[in-house]
Amino acid sequence: MSAAPAFRLAPGGAVAGGIAVPGDKSISHRALMLGGLARGQTRIHGFLAGEDCLSTARALAALGVRIEFDSPTEVRVVGQGGRGLAAPAAALDMGNAGTAMRLMMGLLCGQPFASTLIGDASLMRRPMERVAAPLRQMGARIDTQDGRPPVRIGGGAQLRAIQYALPVASAQVKSAILLAGLSAQGRTRITEPAPSRDHTERMLAAFGVELLREGPTLALEGGQELHAADIEVPGDFSSAAFFLVAGCLAAAQPLTLRNVGVNPTRTGLLEILLRMGADIRVRQHPVKAGAEPVADLEVRRSALQGITVPEALVPLAIDEFPVFFIAAACAQGETVVRGAAELRVKESDRLAAMAEGLTVLGVENQLLPDGLRLKGTGRPFAGGTIDSRGDHRIAMAFAVAALKAGAPLLVGDVANVATSFPGFMETARGVGLRIDPA
Ligand code: S3P
Repeated sequence: MSAAPAFRLAPGGAVAGGIAVPGDKSISHRALMLGGLARGQTRIHGFLAGEDCLSTARALAALGVRIEFDSPTEVRVVGQGGRGLAAPAAALDMGNAGTAMRLMMGLLCGQPFASTLIGDASLMRRPMERVAAPLRQMGARIDTQDGRPPVRIGGGAQLRAIQYALPVASAQVKSAILLAGLSAQGRTRITEPAPSRDHTERMLAAFGVELLREGPTLALEGGQELHAADIEVPGDFSSAAFFLVAGCLAAAQPLTLRNVGVNPTRTGLLEILLRMGADIRVRQHPVKAGAEPVADLEVRRSALQGITVPEALVPLAIDEFPVFFIAAACAQGETVVRGAAELRVKESDRLAAMAEGLTVLGVENQLLPDGLRLKGTGRPFAGGTIDSRGDHRIAMAFAVAALKAGAPLLVGDVANVATSFPGFMETARGVGLRIDPA
């Protein structure tokens, strides 16, 4: 965890320069898990050595997977195949990582041994039935406590394929069912109500698994073996997002973000900012077979217009709303987000946390059951103290807001920034944010 319990931010300033953000969190989790299920040695390049992914690494190690770090970002995973995992000696602690817990439910529910998943105070409050319910339909034996962790998984279940229509567009639920489907009998079919991030599908293909997509439906035949792969993890678009917005607000000179993953199921924020008038240039890298698409993003200060965010873009920008609301508060006119009730069950209730923090900044806003309506202030933000609620993305969003503040900001409870963005403070300072530990 980061040593800083709070960020102290001096108001104003400008950003410029070039940075590479840390590796993608979603892809790093998946590379470890699929590597652990595969036969042979998987190499992961550009791994995110953040606390969330380290929780996944520790859990897999407790299941007998050998994981070796040649450096914080270069990892080798020696898998023994899907049936080679061993019973863990204790409950698996997934820390703050919702993705890790939900995907591990899918990975573990077809194993011959029992296991228990726990996490930190935030994770212990998060809903797990959305994953447990379809897995039970597959024959898994899973107990939650009033829908929340601890998640207790009985061993020895013989899983069978199901056809499942996801009630919400959730990559975590989709991925958990796909992982369970690997050890199920028959062909698992999953239909999505709207596209969500597709890293699991892409990476399964890289590990030699055949997965069919027919429109919104995925089909996976159980019993397929995974073969070790070489995985290049691009920079995390969700981490780049803070600097995309910082650049829109305060890059008098261009700010370049190198080597960012631009999988179209992740770049909803880019689309939204462009529609608001952002000056962001995308330089795609040559596409490598089987790898995720990558680009350099160059952003300049932009006059943004408020927007009604199309609901279809919400799942494609789901983790970027905290910093998006900061951009919207600097835009001219009104911004409305609806169809985003999922934000209430992330690491914190992100709608409530943002509404509260925006009010501290002097931004007129209205909290909606499934979104937020706000008006661009047209003047510098007020200073004050923001409660990040222990949520990494809330903390980083308000750090960016300081660029447009007229007085100092103190952002509290920021240790969890290390779950997704180790070195955030140093990176932010390097491009011009006036940020210090408090
Ligand atoms: C993730 C999926 C998203 C996202 C989360 C990471 C993933 O959650 O919010 O940070 O890696 O699959 P949902 O799929 O539940 O929306």
